[in-house]
Amino acid sequence: MRLTSRYRFSASHRLDTPALSPEENRRLYGKCNNPHGHGHDYLLEITVEGPVDPSGQVVPRQALDDLVRDRVLSRLDHKNLNADIPELAGSVTTTENLATLVRDALLQDWPLPARLAGLRIAETARNSFDLEVS
Ligand code: NI
Repeated sequence: MRLTSRYRFSASHRLDTPALSPEENRRLYGKCNNPHGHGHDYLLEITVEGPVDPSGQVVPRQALDDLVRDRVLSRLDHKNLNADIPELAGSVTTTENLATLVRDALLQDWPLPARLAGLRIAETARNSFDLEVS
């Protein structure tokens, strides 16, 4: 059985890499390279998979919500992803890299009976990023 729970967080970022010149950064990232950054209302979907337990659930809902809140939402919500998140220091704050960070934060000493099967982060209505966890 798979369960997907949806969460929201808001954060700002700027796409920029010191490996490239300012002009190359502008060309590569377009308006996302704007010096003052910009914000997104991200939609995060967490999917867990496992057998249904005697309580009729794949995972206790509150335990999953607490885990996502403690490890992800409380750290990312209303933050500047370029400045406030040590794991992203030195990385470009793309949603691809954000998805990897979320996966790693959740998988460390994963405490739930169901396994983490994957996650999706939608940055805008036009794009979303899926990360399968095997
Ligand atoms: Ni952006």
